[in-house]
Amino acid sequence: MLRLAIEGSQWGDEGKGKITDYFAQKADVVVRSQGGNNAGHTIVYDGKKFALRLVPSGIFSADTINVLANGLVINPKALFEELRGLEERGINNYQLFISNRAQILMPYHIDLDGAIESKLGSSKIGTTKKGIGPCYTDKAARHGIRMGDLLCAQTLRKRLKEVLPIKNSELESYDLPAYDIETLYQYLLKYAEIFKDRIVDTSELISRSINSGKKVLFEGAQGAMLCIDHGTFPYVTSSSPLASAIPVNCGIAPKFIDNVLGIAKAYTTRVGEGPFPSELFDATADNIREMGHEYGTVTKRPRRIGWLDTVVLKYVKQISGVDNFAFMLVDVLSSVDTIKICTAYMLDGKRIDTVPSTLDEYQRCKPIYESMPSWNEDISNISKFDLLPENTRKYIKRVEELTDTPIAIVSVGPDRNQTIIRKEIF
Ligand code: IMP
Repeated sequence: MLRLAIEGSQWGDEGKGKITDYFAQKADVVVRSQGGNNAGHTIVYDGKKFALRLVPSGIFSADTINVLANGLVINPKALFEELRGLEERGINNYQLFISNRAQILMPYHIDLDGAIESKLGSSKIGTTKKGIGPCYTDKAARHGIRMGDLLCAQTLRKRLKEVLPIKNSELESYDLPAYDIETLYQYLLKYAEIFKDRIVDTSELISRSINSGKKVLFEGAQGAMLCIDHGTFPYVTSSSPLASAIPVNCGIAPKFIDNVLGIAKAYTTRVGEGPFPSELFDATADNIREMGHEYGTVTKRPRRIGWLDTVVLKYVKQISGVDNFAFMLVDVLSSVDTIKICTAYMLDGKRIDTVPSTLDEYQRCKPIYESMPSWNEDISNISKFDLLPENTRKYIKRVEELTDTPIAIVSVGPDRNQTIIRKEIF
């Protein structure tokens, strides 16, 4: 398989970083297709830990082409600082290209994100406050500024003149200070100078790479249940993390996305607000949170914890076509006695096995569980599936049955060598 799409199959933070890192070593091209610096995954390279936000995971290899595609919202200052941080730690020799069609995330988007969240009060989304929603709002409203606009000073000034009055009146409505055109122009010119040689037509670049038989990895950000269209709206992010959205977010033919790896934790977590039927509020949740180090990479917030929900996984397979799953943090469940799997919901006295579209209905869903005994032993050094305790194997096989999807990879710890590969997929 020459192309692989990696997709978070829950509410984000499934451990995509580790798997992306593993496959990035084999890829010629690594592409980020949506979101912005709301994402964050930790990669261990040469024994050192790196927290990547916007930069694709192929950055550590000089031969790999890294792409930030058109579907992203890019904060140029954040990107510059992330790259500088990498360079200071010796990652100097890299190839990175940025789509001329990607949106620029402006300072006022960050101001608006905070102000809108405050205005929503107890109904707040719980965003990462990086300005993601307001930037995608401007894209849809056609008030955005794109990376390609940085390539011509005249166009850039003209664009700022067009959009800034609209943004300033919006800022004013939230009692936020307005921006001066000259200040923003100079701010953007600085990043134009820094990034100009990297801003290209990435649709052409990716398509050419695919057509010439290169191995292309599409690394996911966030998770399918945070999809703006199919997730738990409005408690979602403002883009679509689905593999099925990659063609539009990259400007490539849909037929090229033929191998989707869903990343799922052996339990479920979520940050931010919104429905989560299998959520736990007891000591088991605290135990899993500590064992799994479940604190946000970007915001450091403690993550909400719950049992694995196969209604969610089946739904995600339906909306995005998962071919295989990678099952992450399985070792964390060594510390519990009984494992539960949410296999259906009870909604107003009726059993359902799909995700309702409305918030009200989803919030009323009560989990229906199946229970299994845990294995109560350390599995973090096991490197072969057949050597796992019987109960671990039973759990994995049951999840395969319930989701009707093979689990190609089992992760039993954070390090690269704590990975059981059951099937080569890339
Ligand atoms: P936003 O993407 O910052 O607008 O936040 C919207 C929702 O998506 C909030 O619930 C965030 O916590 C969640 N979110 C955004 N990015 C991530 C991520 O990378 N992992 C997990 N949750 C995320």
